[in-house]
Amino acid sequence: SIVSNKYRTAYHFQPPQNWINDPNGMYLSQTTNFQIYNVEVAKDVSPNFSGPMYYNGIYHQFYQYNPNGAIWGDIVWGHSVSRDLINWIRLEPAIERTTPSDINGCWTGSATILNGDKPAIIYTGADPDKRQVQNIVFPKNLSDPYLREWIKSDKNPLIEPVGPGLNSSQFRDPTTGWIGPDGLWRIAIGAELNGYSAALLYKSEDFVNWTRVDHPLYSSNASTMWECPDFFAVLPGKNSGLDMSAAIPSGAKHVLKMSLDNCDKYMIGVYDLKSDTFVPDTVLDDRRLWSKIDYGNYYASKSFFDSKKGRRIIWGWTNETDSTSDDVAKGWAGIHAIPRSIWLDSNSKQLLQWPVEEIESLRRNEVSHQDMELKNGDLFEIKDIDTSQADVEIDFELSAIDTADPFEPAWLLDTEKRCREADATVASSVGPFGLVVLVSNNMEEHTTLHFRVYKSQQKYMILMCSDLRRSSLRPGLYTPAYGGFFEFDLEKENKISLRTLIDRSAVESFGGGGRVCIIARVYPAALIDGGTRMYVFNNGTSSVKIPQLKAWSMRRAQVNVKKG
Ligand code: FRU
Repeated sequence: SIVSNKYRTAYHFQPPQNWINDPNGMYLSQTTNFQIYNVEVAKDVSPNFSGPMYYNGIYHQFYQYNPNGAIWGDIVWGHSVSRDLINWIRLEPAIERTTPSDINGCWTGSATILNGDKPAIIYTGADPDKRQVQNIVFPKNLSDPYLREWIKSDKNPLIEPVGPGLNSSQFRDPTTGWIGPDGLWRIAIGAELNGYSAALLYKSEDFVNWTRVDHPLYSSNASTMWECPDFFAVLPGKNSGLDMSAAIPSGAKHVLKMSLDNCDKYMIGVYDLKSDTFVPDTVLDDRRLWSKIDYGNYYASKSFFDSKKGRRIIWGWTNETDSTSDDVAKGWAGIHAIPRSIWLDSNSKQLLQWPVEEIESLRRNEVSHQDMELKNGDLFEIKDIDTSQADVEIDFELSAIDTADPFEPAWLLDTEKRCREADATVASSVGPFGLVVLVSNNMEEHTTLHFRVYKSQQKYMILMCSDLRRSSLRPGLYTPAYGGFFEFDLEKENKISLRTLIDRSAVESFGGGGRVCIIARVYPAALIDGGTRMYVFNNGTSSVKIPQLKAWSMRRAQVNVKKG
């Protein structure tokens, strides 16, 4: 139908149809069989396949996939491959429901690259009693560059939900493996232990026989279950990534990410090798205060070390926010956010994220504006690009920051409420200013991305909002006002940057150089029947300078479409 075509994203990851959820990726350098690989690509790929044509490496993306429809169920591991993280070739599912230990679902897990270039995947299976168990698969043929077929070990299930306090239906989503100082492999598994959340720790010599360590990697009684834990090392202020199966340099910090409350939260800390536990730098008992990977619609993310470019990449799932019946009518549900580089800020207090540079290959029709000034009430239209498929980068320079309103720490408990109360129409001294996207001709539909500056003792706190409440005239949509705060040091910086990727029903934004990220789904009627517009605006009483604004149309990527 018309609806499905217009809301389908043009360069975010999704299969041709049906439901997807959690992503799981890896990069393989494939030094062997270079020849075979080139032949295959030439055959499979359409002529306008972009990106470098030949390099000896393939990214694999696996994902929770329902082969039978646009709702969750019958889950198998979908599988796609890419050379540039942007254009994808869809393969047959890698793991299907064929054995007792995964007959009720092949759920989330992680790939680990063992000794050199030999990958293994440990994933959760739902068994005939709906108990959650952990299984392993290996590639059938390592000389197939696409690794199409995966063989289940006859040792499956490797790990069963046994032991005191363990809830057998809350025991899933094993992490990528890492090697400890004793040379043994470790993985962590999300679990409910004695009614509380835990990342349970398991050890192995051969990656197949696992024993549970007598203490968890980390546990907390602030919540009941963590899905999709992710554990990785980062170096403060270095945007290069670290490989978890290699020695971790001193000075590194560790990050524990967990999925709960419909979002992905994280803690920064140290991995104490003596006690073999993760020790957060700060423990916040109120989980509403935990940092988020993304303050919008983003869940079950997973990172991997990209040895090709020496970076860590994180992938997350973004669900639909229309109705289930809309999804069934569209025939598809769920996308993945653009893969992002992820690293630790030099102050070791927060993670930074930025869309992988490869996405820039889709840009065309650059428009650029310099040295603009937006006074109170100004609205400036960005023209000459496709505003429904775009990439925008804006720097806002602040003048009268001394007059900023005072910050209230209580706002951190409910940032969405703050974005509803202090919305784009409510003037303060510094802000709101920002970008309005997917605007209908009569302005009735619009999605706003905006900042507001507050003074907080020695520093400033910036509120970034992505307000969907007017995004569509259609009924039955979930349209919150998402928001997050970040610190701003006026001594060191005077510009606040905004990057927004607009991809039809996806609006993915990065504020303050990746300090607050917000991805959202919107379904404006204007995408179907009117066309859309885009503006920058300032509704704060003091004026804002825009030293630089750049915007591009984004080309459609080849996402899982095979030329037939
Ligand atoms: C997270 C999750 C995982 C589970 C998978 C099932 O979205 O619920 O905990 O393994 O999805 O599809």
